[in-house]
Amino acid sequence: MSDERPIGVFDSGVGGLSVLREIHARLPLESLIYVADSGHVPYGEKTPEYIRERCRAIADFLLLKNAKALVVACNTATAAAAADLRERYPELPIIAMEPAVKPAAAATRNGVIGVLATSGTLASARFAALLDRFAADICVVTQPCPGLVEQVEAGKLDDPETERLLKTFTGPLLAQGCDTVILGCTHYPFLRRALERMLPPEVTLVDTGAAVARQVERLLCNKSLTSAGASTTSFWTSSEPDVLQKRLPLLWGAKADVGRF
Ligand code: DGL
Repeated sequence: MSDERPIGVFDSGVGGLSVLREIHARLPLESLIYVADSGHVPYGEKTPEYIRERCRAIADFLLLKNAKALVVACNTATAAAAADLRERYPELPIIAMEPAVKPAAAATRNGVIGVLATSGTLASARFAALLDRFAADICVVTQPCPGLVEQVEAGKLDDPETERLLKTFTGPLLAQGCDTVILGCTHYPFLRRALERMLPPEVTLVDTGAAVARQVERLLCNKSLTSAGASTTSFWTSSEPDVLQKRLPLLWGAKADVGRF
């Protein structure tokens, strides 16, 4: 049995493409539909109510497109809306994501970890619960990063302003001696190279994209929803399609058409 319906993946903007890449690499036979809510980015500074409304609208759209599962490829949206989506669509497999506190707590050698994330994620009850559960004995230094998402949306991964922001945000983490830094927003893996250039080599960066892809695979297998057919990937945005279209070669690795959501 092959279920060739697509997996719906979404984010506030282009950040979730870092997760989409991992899913596609792990599950090349699965068709994917990606929604970038770039008309409403950034989510990081919005209220949880606003984000929940956006997530409902996107999920409804993806279900109309016949999605067999949803991936919330956004830490901020997960914090604000994953529970709401699961309540609203109880039958639908929903994979959500949160900052990699557990792997970072396992990886740290000196017991000091840093978390780069949006204000929305860091202020959420879900993040507080994550720290209680996995980092009770660890010193956790959190750092909101206003402006960074906009740089990635603009495709400025190596720009002097991006570098300035990264220095500003990593400075306090280094000052506290973090040896492990969590990239707690799906936009930030696109800045990994720039970060690696500026951080001391002993600092380990962790993100959750690959773990999410493994989780998607597990869930599809358990529910007998895997595809054995040829796959397609389609892209949709709530902003100008041209803008996402221009970013795809850099962030997805290939050109593609983009529809207006
Ligand atoms: N990419 C998102 C995340 O993982 C949110 C970025 C934003 O819109 O603020 O948190």
